[in-house]
Amino acid sequence: MSPGELKEYLAAQERKSFLRFLTCGSVDDGKSTLIGRLLYDTKLIFEDQLKTLEKDSKKHGTTGDDIDFALLLDGLESEREQGITIDVAYRFFSTSKRKFIVADTPGHEQYTRNMATGASTADLAVILVDARKGVLTQTRRHAFICSLLRIRHVILAINKIDLAHYSQDIFESIDHEFRDFADKLGFASIVSIPLSARFGDNVINQSLSMPWYSGPTLLAHLESIDVSTDLEAMSFRMPVQWVNRPNLDFRGFAGTIASGRIAPGDRVVVANSGRLSTVARIVTQNGDLREAGAGDAVTLTLDDEVDVSRGDMLAAAGERPDVSDQFAAHIIWMSEEELLPGRQYLIKIGARSVPATITELKHKIDVNSLEHFAAKTLQLNEVGYCNLSASVPIAFDRYASNRHTGSFIVIDRFTNGTVGAGMIEFGLRRATNVHWQALDINKQVRASQKGQKPVMLWFTGLSGSGKSTIANIVEKKLNLSGRHTYLLDGDNVRHGLNRDLGFTDADRVENIRRVAETAKLFVDAGLIVLVSFISPFRSERRTARELVQQGEFLEVYVDTPLEVCMSRDPKGLYKRAQAGEIKNFTGLDSPYEPPEAAEIHVNTVDLSPEAAADAIIEKLRAENLIA
Ligand code: ADX
Repeated sequence: MSPGELKEYLAAQERKSFLRFLTCGSVDDGKSTLIGRLLYDTKLIFEDQLKTLEKDSKKHGTTGDDIDFALLLDGLESEREQGITIDVAYRFFSTSKRKFIVADTPGHEQYTRNMATGASTADLAVILVDARKGVLTQTRRHAFICSLLRIRHVILAINKIDLAHYSQDIFESIDHEFRDFADKLGFASIVSIPLSARFGDNVINQSLSMPWYSGPTLLAHLESIDVSTDLEAMSFRMPVQWVNRPNLDFRGFAGTIASGRIAPGDRVVVANSGRLSTVARIVTQNGDLREAGAGDAVTLTLDDEVDVSRGDMLAAAGERPDVSDQFAAHIIWMSEEELLPGRQYLIKIGARSVPATITELKHKIDVNSLEHFAAKTLQLNEVGYCNLSASVPIAFDRYASNRHTGSFIVIDRFTNGTVGAGMIEFGLRRATNVHWQALDINKQVRASQKGQKPVMLWFTGLSGSGKSTIANIVEKKLNLSGRHTYLLDGDNVRHGLNRDLGFTDADRVENIRRVAETAKLFVDAGLIVLVSFISPFRSERRTARELVQQGEFLEVYVDTPLEVCMSRDPKGLYKRAQAGEIKNFTGLDSPYEPPEAAEIHVNTVDLSPEAAADAIIEKLRAENLIA
């Protein structure tokens, strides 16, 4: 199809309503066959042209004439921006009654990630079961995740009914079992359909082999179900993707309207600051619009110079979203690496990415029984309910009231991969009632009284590498030359402040989080703080670094090879770990991630501890941190 024909075709499609749905199930359930049959039997005009569409929409921009492209690609847009590599195939097809986008998510073990991505805009889910197998754990999991993602309508496609003798009893017992479970999940509609994707029974045509079934065929139901959530009837929300300022006379805020409608003259509020303004124009490449609604990509200008930046949200005045740096959310974890409370991740919400930590994992949810369990971490595909704390206040809605502005993704700061998807339940008020106290005696005053520059010297390395020995000598030398210091040592701090923590990854993250916060206070006190912890993870060392100002953090990598540490074994711990008496021992069955760019690199094989200490003092001098 030529771009011209495609455009014409899309224009014709525009008049029909749209249904976005998701298929859940594995290859064994016959999912591909079912989608194949739907596409084939509806005499699909073009299939999976998304690659071309993507290219075209980039070429043409996303406004004006090409609004259809944006519409088609909506859903995909955000994922592409988030850089998620996903296995979701989106297919487009249409019938005389309706047009459809089906997100085909593979059923292997990464399915939650794919489901969550495919489901973010879906109106309906088709959950497949094999009539011979009935409702499986996987079926319940799919249904639960759909409900969590607030997909309101479900079709239970009971497939391969031909292999179950077109049996009404089998159909009914599966239908009952599923409803027993799914009734708790609050779907607006559940329709079970007995079908055979292979032979086409009840997919598009009514099956002759099941006279006992009087319900709709799959396609008939897809064509007729009313899914209108009416995004346009909701409050106006537009995350600002970028500020368009080609010259001094024009300042526009570009983005895709997430919900609601907008027209020139409407009052809007900048979500974060609460400042009010009025929409002056709705600008597109093809001239100004008189109004625009959910899904439209537009540039808004305001009639005054109110401060709005990329990542802000514009909202209907009087219906300002929640703004908080702490909130409770459900999280679906999608990474092989477990979720670690206390670790800093990035969360991306709307057009904004901010550092955030899971401050408390309240429980995880068994997807089979929907029971809640206490948990310290979340593993791949697990669902948990947590409190989060972001580094700055963000604007959001509850997911229940707006799927677009109430959801976020969790990104690993090192790999940049998406590791989780979150649905916000509500903001936590406690954050708003605690204000930062401005104190007259500050870090500068305290430091200058001591006649020194405060700094955090962070020693990292394996157990037995010599961290504490070297740190001890450095502190003595600094002390002798009249510096004010403090040494935080892992073994010692674990006797007091951190005595409740062990050596799981989660506990180590919390161990380092607490000691980093403590060290930050000591820097604020004007001290030279030496921190000597294994601190095995890059992520937490980086977080520690970012707690203080640039130049106030020096990482000292005590790079003594594992074999040497093991042969020294000053506390006899390696021997015990090797005998299986100690679990999760760093370097043995617990990882150590060496620094990639430590300011200071020493080891105790080539250097005596004394010489290593001298090298560190020398570096402090070279950096002008001590005279
Ligand atoms: S960290 O990994 O959380 O940074 P930390 O520096 O506080 O560790 O504590 C490490 C010290 O605890 C080691 O020097 C060692 O004496 C002791 N220890 C006991 N069990 C372990 C273990 N499983 N892994 C590492 N160190 C352990």
